[in-house]
Amino acid sequence: MKVMVIGRGGREHAIVWKLSQSLKVSKLYCAPGNGGIAQLAECVEIDEQDFAGIGRFAKEQAVDLVVIGPDDPLAAGIVDYLEGLGLLVYGPRKNAAEIEGSKVFMKHLLKKYNIPTAAYESFDNYEDALAYLGSHGAPIVIKADGLAAGKGVIVARTNEEAEKALQTIMLDKAFGASGNRVVIEEFMEGQEMSLLAFVDGNTVRPMVPSQDHKPVFDNDEGPNTGGMGTYSPVPHIPQEIVDEAIRTIVVPTAEAMVQEGRPFRGVLFAGLMITASGPRTVEFNARFGDPETQVVLPRLESDLLDIFLASLDGRLAEADIRFSGDAAVCVILASPGYPGSYPKGLPITGLEDVPEGDALVFHAGTRVSEGRTVTAGGRVLGVVGMGADIAAARDRAYAASERIRFEGKHCRTDIAAKALAPRS
Ligand code: AMP
Ligand code: GLY
Repeated sequence: MKVMVIGRGGREHAIVWKLSQSLKVSKLYCAPGNGGIAQLAECVEIDEQDFAGIGRFAKEQAVDLVVIGPDDPLAAGIVDYLEGLGLLVYGPRKNAAEIEGSKVFMKHLLKKYNIPTAAYESFDNYEDALAYLGSHGAPIVIKADGLAAGKGVIVARTNEEAEKALQTIMLDKAFGASGNRVVIEEFMEGQEMSLLAFVDGNTVRPMVPSQDHKPVFDNDEGPNTGGMGTYSPVPHIPQEIVDEAIRTIVVPTAEAMVQEGRPFRGVLFAGLMITASGPRTVEFNARFGDPETQVVLPRLESDLLDIFLASLDGRLAEADIRFSGDAAVCVILASPGYPGSYPKGLPITGLEDVPEGDALVFHAGTRVSEGRTVTAGGRVLGVVGMGADIAAARDRAYAASERIRFEGKHCRTDIAAKALAPRS
């Protein structure tokens, strides 16, 4: 089969890498791809938002399946568009992708169906929002309604921070129109966990849990990023809690989407807070996580293409979905300045010094320029170590990370530390 993946990040590199192992895949395309994906797939210079360009190319090349990686094209309805051309597409339609595209929609849905999450109010008026802050006080969480590359959420520890966040989102429009409405919600205390699941209507097939590290600096300091590193499994969160989250959050949400006439088909990603009173929802995403995918797919023993096809055939419940007991740790190597502004085009050296079998290197923001791999994004590479346990996987990921160099390279040095020394 000819398969085309849409996207250009580390998540898409991991998807392409996993699909490349399927014996049924005869040809892989990626639009637009990156420097690492180009080693496994033919990259075509078409933007993720250029639906007409993607559709034309897929028809011309007789692509059998299109897989959508990122949130923006999903929220804008790429699946509906490509299906309209008669193409087979893996990913949620626009009305289902709204679970990620609008936090207000998501919060209303969870409230309506009694699915555990933080108490909240939504506002489209700055004065009302400010008054609400005045009556509730910090710690409190302020979220831009729409998509903001993972950065539209501010966890305010003080009232000043909360007011500044509101101003940044609603008045300064730091995230553009995504900040026309805000959700202000209760601060939840606990450990975070990411739980991805293959979902088709009422059928939910969970993947293994993982944990992300959003703040840019060690000890969870500094501004939030798209994610600075991940690990899987999450050994200090017991399986009963994972099962509870599936039973009380993921399955009821899939069922609620069916009830609402928006059946979800694709990867549903639950961002969870494991609080003292059990798992509660932080957010839903309508796609694979980045960098969660980089630790989850290396543990998948089954054929990813078969899972996509089973889902598209209404056979997801019977699909063979097995994960290995190995641990995986992903360390993100980021550009200097990220998540603020950062330079591009810095030469990357040492990629060939990572011995095959020691670590997987998923490219996130790279491109090949005059035969050299250079930086082209905030998150540049995701280096994944595998091992019998988290400590072994972490050591491999960091050993490989040290071999790779570019000017100003930044990574957190404490990825997976929570799994090794649980603090509470
Ligand atoms: P989101 O984009 O909604 O996942 O939010 C980004 C990050 O902000 C999450 O991963 C959490 O670390 C934090 N966060 C969001 N909502 C809350 C909340 N209600 N309580 C505590 N932390 C939160
Ligand atoms: N790592 C979080 C996300 O993909 O949104």
